[in-house]
Amino acid sequence: MEQEQLDKFRAWFDDYVAGFYGDDEFINANIKLKDEHSRRTCQEMLELADELGLSASQRRRAEVLALLHDIGRFEQFVKYRTYNDPRSVNHCLLGLEVLRRTKVLEQLQDEERELVERVIEYHGLMELPAGLDGECLLLSKLLRDADKLDIFYVVTDYYQQYRDDPEGFKLEIELPDEPGYSMDVVEQLLAGQRIDYSKLRTWNDMKLCQLGWIYDVNFSTTLKRIKQRGFLEMIFEFLPATEDIKRVREKIFEFVESAIARGG
Ligand SMILES: [Fe+2]
Repeated sequence: MEQEQLDKFRAWFDDYVAGFYGDDEFINANIKLKDEHSRRTCQEMLELADELGLSASQRRRAEVLALLHDIGRFEQFVKYRTYNDPRSVNHCLLGLEVLRRTKVLEQLQDEERELVERVIEYHGLMELPAGLDGECLLLSKLLRDADKLDIFYVVTDYYQQYRDDPEGFKLEIELPDEPGYSMDVVEQLLAGQRIDYSKLRTWNDMKLCQLGWIYDVNFSTTLKRIKQRGFLEMIFEFLPATEDIKRVREKIFEFVESAIARGG
């Protein structure tokens, strides 16, 4: 990818997203969340790309993927007032529809356009499809890690804002904020498994599920960043201090340490 193409994508994104802001404060707050998330994911992506030594062209491609990966989120929220895919629409597929409708990827050669579409389609899957290889696999892994790094930032900030001012909180809360959590979610985490979103019943389950994302991190440099920024400790601060949660904490930290020691 050329610098000129990257510049066009950046300008297009600014324009496209600007069109979703209006008079509804709830919508604006949620659009801003994904607007900023997309921009910060670019930053995370570039840092990972540099650490892994990507070429200048790959680096630009990686940035465009980060910028456009959640492009379906804007239309999703305005239409359905939720970011919950099962309750509305698959935001990755909606993103592809937006990209095709607006023809923004037409400045790319067929092969590169298909690559971009595939990586965007795969970013929200529970697991990457088997048999991916080459650039598609590398970029898919990178995007999923960059996305997670920023989501850890978003959710920890979100929990803090909600704790400080629950009345003034303008973002969507998808699950009931009850004191409990589901034991099968705890058991799954202790078994080293990620949590299926359909299992989640309470907001604490959601926090546990977010801890489980670490099992899906692709590069040890990503885990190092998660550790450096203290995201996991922060999430535990917002969970009840029970014996179950203490066990989860030990398991998660042990996993992170051994994965970093193994490298890769
Ligand atoms: Fe994302």
